[in-house]
Amino acid sequence: MKITVVGTGYVGLVTGTCFAETGNEVTCVDIDVNKVNKLSNGQVTIYEPGLEKLFERNLKEGRLHFTTNLAEGIKDAQVIFLALPTPPGADGAADLSFVLKVAEQLGKIMTDYKVIVDKSTVPVGTADKVRAAIAQNCKTEFDVVSNPEFLREGVAVDDFMKPDRVVIGTGSERARKVMGELYAPYVRQGNPILYMDEKSAELTKYAANSFLATKISFMNEIAILCEKLGADVDMVRRGIGSDDRIGKRFLFPGIGYGGSCFPKDVQALVKSSADAAYDFKILNAVMDVNEKQKLFLLPKIKSYFKDGLKGKHFALWGLAFKPNTDDIREAPALYIIDALVAEGATVSVFDPEAMAPVRQVVGDKVTYAEHQYTCLDNADALIIATEWSVFRTPDFDKIAHTLKNKAIFDGRNLFEVERMQELGFHYESVGRTA
Ligand code: UGA
Repeated sequence: MKITVVGTGYVGLVTGTCFAETGNEVTCVDIDVNKVNKLSNGQVTIYEPGLEKLFERNLKEGRLHFTTNLAEGIKDAQVIFLALPTPPGADGAADLSFVLKVAEQLGKIMTDYKVIVDKSTVPVGTADKVRAAIAQNCKTEFDVVSNPEFLREGVAVDDFMKPDRVVIGTGSERARKVMGELYAPYVRQGNPILYMDEKSAELTKYAANSFLATKISFMNEIAILCEKLGADVDMVRRGIGSDDRIGKRFLFPGIGYGGSCFPKDVQALVKSSADAAYDFKILNAVMDVNEKQKLFLLPKIKSYFKDGLKGKHFALWGLAFKPNTDDIREAPALYIIDALVAEGATVSVFDPEAMAPVRQVVGDKVTYAEHQYTCLDNADALIIATEWSVFRTPDFDKIAHTLKNKAIFDGRNLFEVERMQELGFHYESVGRTA
């Protein structure tokens, strides 16, 4: 099939590459000339494990093309995916201007039947708006489909190639057939393609992310309670997760969720609810709990350093909002840095992938270590904010000898409490009594 993907950001590039991988001919369109040049020359513009190999292969075999020219890019396409940014506006609602502008342009330039697919996370009712924007000037038949993505950064290629489900929202039999054919190679193991109306598809995306965020905030509150009552959140997690109705995944407490999706999507769903004259109480609490959780370690650090944090120096391991990405959007580490600096402390940071983006945002507020162990030099304590695998079995001797105090504040529960006690560390984590 001939496909066009408009927008070569994270979702667009993964989508385009993975569609090419099953033999489709894919053209990706972006207004950013620099990006299009880089991509055309074989340079992958995002960090995503496993993507580069697929990208290189499909580019080489001529199934992936890049252009800044929308008209040229969509000329032969049967399906056009819109993978455009929908940043939160001042009122928390998703800003649809990028999506609607392209839709309007498409209406002017399409000359034969095409399926236009909303891939961006968009509020309920957007498919109607896209349809109206295209129809303004359109002389040909077309259908609009809502097809939300459920990719996780760091495992996006796998999530695309083997999705738990594919959600396709459309009232058109013709579009349904095209979409079913396109996705058939990805659901061969038997995972479902769920066909539904557009609005349900649009809401499914927000409901999925909001539910997962709720699970996390719930566990973070259970962790707080565990500390107060002397229970161990790891035990409670296992105890409840083995019930199939609850499930084992996404029950890990920590210092809050971050990234480009959960915070934005929960906020947008609260806003959509308010617009529909409904106060979504649970989600307001989910956001509130998460905001507080980002600084969960601070009172622990303050109570350890009884004479205050002024003049203290901290090593901070992990900056990305989660492992296997260089994404630092809404990353708890950034909030920790601000809080420590506000208290008069200094911070040295290390992250396997996210040093450059942090440097851009934080500048010389912190120092940047070359290595996870040089990060510890002269530090009074170590703080861990992201569970990168490389932090999981560190050289504890080295840590003990380099830090001024044998103190570790772990926001991701990387180590066993007992072991840390045996090693003589002052070790504090989330929801586990030391
Ligand atoms: C999330 C969803 O998981 C994807 O299904 C969805 O497609 C994507 O948003 C999106 O809307 O584009 P992502 O933001 O990449 O994916 O990250 P996750 O792996 O879901 O993690 C989100 C946050 O939750 C991270 O900050 C992580 O540390 C935190 N988390 C996750 C926990 O604190 N505890 C857990 O048990 C799991």
